[in-house]
Amino acid sequence: MTGYVTTPILEAVDLGLGYRNRTVSEHLDIAIEKGTVTALVGPNGSGKSTLLMALARVLAPRHGQIRLDGTPLRDRSSIETARRLAILPQTAIAPQGLRVRELVEQGRYPRLGALSMLRRHDDEAMHTAMSSTGILHLADRTVDSLSGGERQRTWIAMALAQETEILLLDEPTTYLDVRHQIDVMELVVDLVANRGKTVVMVLHDLNQAARYCDRIVAMRDGVIVADGHPRDIVTPTLLEDVFEIRARVVADPVVGRPMFIAE
Ligand SMILES: Nc1ncnc2c1ncn2[C@@H]1O[C@H](COP(=O)(O)OP(=O)(O)O)[C@@H](O)[C@H]1O
Ligand SMILES: [Mg+2]
Repeated sequence: MTGYVTTPILEAVDLGLGYRNRTVSEHLDIAIEKGTVTALVGPNGSGKSTLLMALARVLAPRHGQIRLDGTPLRDRSSIETARRLAILPQTAIAPQGLRVRELVEQGRYPRLGALSMLRRHDDEAMHTAMSSTGILHLADRTVDSLSGGERQRTWIAMALAQETEILLLDEPTTYLDVRHQIDVMELVVDLVANRGKTVVMVLHDLNQAARYCDRIVAMRDGVIVADGHPRDIVTPTLLEDVFEIRARVVADPVVGRPMFIAE
């Protein structure tokens, strides 16, 4: 049916999504393979965040099913889900006065409880998360005193501190300068290549999606309109159909992935 040899790590089948009297998606299907980086792209309002929130169990689907390793999410406890899957929401607001270290520590909560004797490992996980996002020096600052980019990296660190196999990141590079955008993309690629993670992320920069991701899923009006390897997705026709831009596509000279230049 899905064409996958192995059970997808995360799968949505016939999802219906919406808010009160607003329907966003009907009959959405997506299967994520373990160990891959998937980019969700599409114009504003196309339903990317809605899908990510449903996959993270933040938003209850109206119908359909989400499966983690083949088991429906609704048959798992929320703590069990939180140990497997972390989400970086698009708009995340920290309580006033909260310090960077405290916010990152919240990523550890699903892991504490009965295992609180493992305190040393919590410190290690927080240290690793903060060091790989370059925010160790900000540990004692309050989150509301940070720049947009520093704050964004703090939220990413919180998601990383959760040490889940699956990371769902909604526009992780927004607010970041180019240097930090590249750092985040390279961190994601490293997490997937060397630390067994699976990542689904919403990206606005299609060239970045093409360069760093294994797969691009393009949405428009709540529907998945294209899904595949960047070379099959970043084409002039798709750019026109999905994003309403006329563009040329060339091979990027560094890694040979497709890259578009608007006309
Ligand atoms: N909390 C909400 N209540 C009502 N409508 C919403 C809410 N969040 C998003 N929407 C609507 O759902 C649609 C999809 O939004 P969203 O998933 O945020 O799109 P994207 O992330 O692709 O920009 C949009 O029309 C948006 O206005
Ligand atoms: Mg969004």
